[in-house]
Amino acid sequence: MIRKAVLPVAGFGTRMLPITKVVPKELLPILNRPVIEYVVNEVIESGFDSLIFVISYGKEAILDYFDVDLGLKQFLAERKKEKLLQLIEEIEEKIKYLSSIRQKVPQGLGHAVLMAERLVGDEPFAVVLGDDLVDADPPCLKQMIEVHLKLETKSPPPSVIALEKVAPEDVSKYGIVEGELVDEGIFRIRRVVEKPSPEEAPSNLAIIGRYIFQPVIFDYLKRIPKTFGEYQLTDAIQLMIDAGYPIYGYCFQGKRLDTGNPKGFFEAVLHYAMKDPQLREVLRELCRTL
Ligand code: G1P
Repeated sequence: MIRKAVLPVAGFGTRMLPITKVVPKELLPILNRPVIEYVVNEVIESGFDSLIFVISYGKEAILDYFDVDLGLKQFLAERKKEKLLQLIEEIEEKIKYLSSIRQKVPQGLGHAVLMAERLVGDEPFAVVLGDDLVDADPPCLKQMIEVHLKLETKSPPPSVIALEKVAPEDVSKYGIVEGELVDEGIFRIRRVVEKPSPEEAPSNLAIIGRYIFQPVIFDYLKRIPKTFGEYQLTDAIQLMIDAGYPIYGYCFQGKRLDTGNPKGFFEAVLHYAMKDPQLREVLRELCRTL
């Protein structure tokens, strides 16, 4: 059973400035819910019950969103706003075990994941990046758990990373992998390169923000030097591969939406609006009249 998921949410969100000067990018609304709620839904629906947020200064509101606001509940109860009360309670009850740790200084994704070591302990865990929403049924992480279960029979136990084919001109935005196909949609990864130029990229298979790791990753996160001024998660993954640990890439089924930049964010808003029968009509009408 993999129960713990680490959600690194400490970044400044520079690609979404200026709004992210005061609103964490994870709390930007996709319709009337913050981006992070879509991510948390995926994690919970995939069977995780312990969520570990790696936060930084000014990001406390992310935790508050999932916490109990007694004042608000009392206010709504007194005014008999049952539906709203129910809406709020559903969010409060979503995460069974919520914990957080601070990454005081931004030092990269690798460093953020390492901050969670004590809270994770000695068990396999997931890392889920809040920028990438994946609309999928079954949820992307659940698909990855299935793949992990299938591969777990082998020793040492595997790690699984979500992959997606990207356009050649986009490879420099991602960790790119090289590997061989071992099963339908499953690659055994031999090499990972963080944000290569199109010429250097070994393929167009990009790492998406979903990972299932064995706890040994922490040993390797402590050994890596900084690359591009930060501790890169991909460098620790490469060290694990070099040490003989099996790392698999899985091409998930579903629609990925990158909410970390203005264009992708807008696409995500439209994507979820189109899934809502009422909003779909509003959007269609707007498109006709615009
Ligand atoms: C991070 C990782 C990268 C991965 C990407 C997925 O990059 O370093 O390997 O492909 O997330 O979103 P970032 O987007 O934080 O620059």
